[in-house]
Amino acid sequence: MQTDLRGRDLISTQDWSKEEIETLLDVAWDLKRKRALGEAHALLRDKVLALLFFFTSTRTRISFEAGMAQLGGHAQFIDHTTTQISHGDTAKEIGEIVGRYTDGIAIRQCDWAFGNQYINDVAAASRVPVLNMQCDIYHPFQILADLMTIQEKFGRDLSGKTINISWAYAASYQKPISVPQSLVLLMSRFGMNVRLTRPPEYKLMPDIVEQARENTRRHGGSFEIVEDFDAGFAGADILYPKSWGSWLTTEDEAASADIGAQYRDWITDDRRMALAADNAIYMHCLPADRNIEVTDSVIDGPQSVVYDEAENRLHVQKAAMALTMR
Ligand code: CP
Repeated sequence: MQTDLRGRDLISTQDWSKEEIETLLDVAWDLKRKRALGEAHALLRDKVLALLFFFTSTRTRISFEAGMAQLGGHAQFIDHTTTQISHGDTAKEIGEIVGRYTDGIAIRQCDWAFGNQYINDVAAASRVPVLNMQCDIYHPFQILADLMTIQEKFGRDLSGKTINISWAYAASYQKPISVPQSLVLLMSRFGMNVRLTRPPEYKLMPDIVEQARENTRRHGGSFEIVEDFDAGFAGADILYPKSWGSWLTTEDEAASADIGAQYRDWITDDRRMALAADNAIYMHCLPADRNIEVTDSVIDGPQSVVYDEAENRLHVQKAAMALTMR
């Protein structure tokens, strides 16, 4: 068990060893149990975490704020529009200055080809840990919560389980690519058969796909890419169909929406769920475009674990904060 994680950033799960991730999950389970029993766990008394948001949020903001309070500390919500960033505060200055006021800096910056670099630039200047609340490339805390949820449903040994990480149609906006990229990176380290299902215009970054392939070579399991929506469901144990923008094909929102409209029938419904394994679970990070991306009958149905998945954001984030900010 790796226990010396004090001061570490968490920007991508790839930056942490598998053993370190297993430590984080062990702590998350312990904190979940303590909360269920009403046991106090004020591990970060008097500590402060700055939450810097450049993008909207429901789950991430509320779970980080609640988590810091439950750990005995304080989380500062900072909407970037209320700061002087638009008047010149640089990433280096944010890292230097906010790092002197607080014990950790968490950032959501999802702008394509910018967000991850920004978070890394803040981290390079910060004396305190920097936590990635989602960027253009990664969404590590979502995927750690997803892994915790999958292990709750199927046990800690996931070898032989097939996860279908699939694109789905959505009309609301061109969503970041960070969730599928982080999913293929982390699930491929736990012996799973990783199936990435997407139309040709919805490729992930080649470097990420290569890292996922390398992970399966090292940790077992397999990696395949499928371009047929129904085929992605066939026999899978874990179904994770969600929309993302065609960022590698075009950065133009209107052009991307036109491409997506060709695939309006990529909606998760009961017929497709029946193609999967009998005890398959349905996952989604939320928010979902209901009855466009997934039918109500599936997302509200017996195979859906979306609320457990959302809850586990709280526990993995508390574990990461407790381990890195103590
Ligand atoms: N899944 C997720 O990150 O939710 P929010 O965008 O609401 O934070």
